[in-house]
Amino acid sequence: MGKTNENMIHEPVMAEEVLEHLVPAKGEFRFVDCTLGFGGHSCLVLKKNPDIKVLGIDQDMNAIDYAEKRLSFADDRILIEKGRFSSVSSFMIKNDWKYADFFLLDIGVSSQQIDLPERGFSYRYNGPLDMRMDSKTGNRTAAQILNNYTFSELVRIFKDYGEIKQAGKLAAAVIERRKKKTWFKTGELVDLCEKVLPRPRKSGPPVPSLCFQALRIEVNNELGELQEALKAILGVASEKGRIGVISYHSLEDRIVKNFFRREASDCLCPPGLPECVCDHKPSLKIITKKPLRPGEKEIMRNPRSKSAKMRVAEKING
Ligand SMILES: C[S@@+](CC[C@H](N)C(=O)[O-])C[C@H]1O[C@@H](n2cnc3c(N)ncnc32)[C@H](O)[C@@H]1O
Repeated sequence: MGKTNENMIHEPVMAEEVLEHLVPAKGEFRFVDCTLGFGGHSCLVLKKNPDIKVLGIDQDMNAIDYAEKRLSFADDRILIEKGRFSSVSSFMIKNDWKYADFFLLDIGVSSQQIDLPERGFSYRYNGPLDMRMDSKTGNRTAAQILNNYTFSELVRIFKDYGEIKQAGKLAAAVIERRKKKTWFKTGELVDLCEKVLPRPRKSGPPVPSLCFQALRIEVNNELGELQEALKAILGVASEKGRIGVISYHSLEDRIVKNFFRREASDCLCPPGLPECVCDHKPSLKIITKKPLRPGEKEIMRNPRSKSAKMRVAEKING
């Protein structure tokens, strides 16, 4: 079994909302858990509906190892694949699933990824600047980015993925520092952020958190993966199939909101045209006009759920 800590296995985020919108109590449905993680959501799905089949995907081998054991009670109702969720349709084809009825993306990093210092995701622990969700791939690590990216590449990721106002100042300091010493440890990056960036307002995120977020997104191509997965899911969702996405920051939520809006729209012509010339047919119906948020009780039990937003849409004209 992969390296985990039982205390890190928090309850799945927005479980009630997932079960309500994505899991009928009866019926032989197919459910794709695109972010299997520790199998928290999948476990609830399999228990709620005794006839449902789940295909779980994750790129992290630790998560897969754990979920395989946790979900073994479901025998042949659970299939598990290691890989990226942008390849969701390939994994479905491999398992002879032409269509599926429900898709869940609970994106971002899991508690166990954040809480293991050696994964390098957290600014709270000193560890290697790694941040790869799939540590077995040849993907670049956060350290490789800090040691090799040009000034303008660093500015782009700090600005676009961390929304850091002083992205140029931070990028310049990263480059200055690497002339003397190669980037290696998270603690060194925390020190630099605290030295270079202004203290946040009382309610703002801690200084290094946005820099860590930016690097993590770049290392794992998180926004590109999300866009690709949404497009792929649209092609393999059954008529009335539902897609639920739980996201944890505004960059991800914006992608989901815009994708759902676009695919639910019956015209994509630029404003001002006298009549529609695009012939766009809506393929989604938006179920949650506003994103669902975790309740106060859940936030009290699991503070990491605080920033979660869940959007649900339904396939039409399948
Ligand atoms: C927030 S956790 C999911 C937790 C899970 N819902 C549970 O209840 O245990 C997100 C998971 O998605 C995985 N993940 C993130 N991006 C991915 C991608 N592009 N492809 C496959 N897995 C991904 C991460 O490795 C992580 O295990």
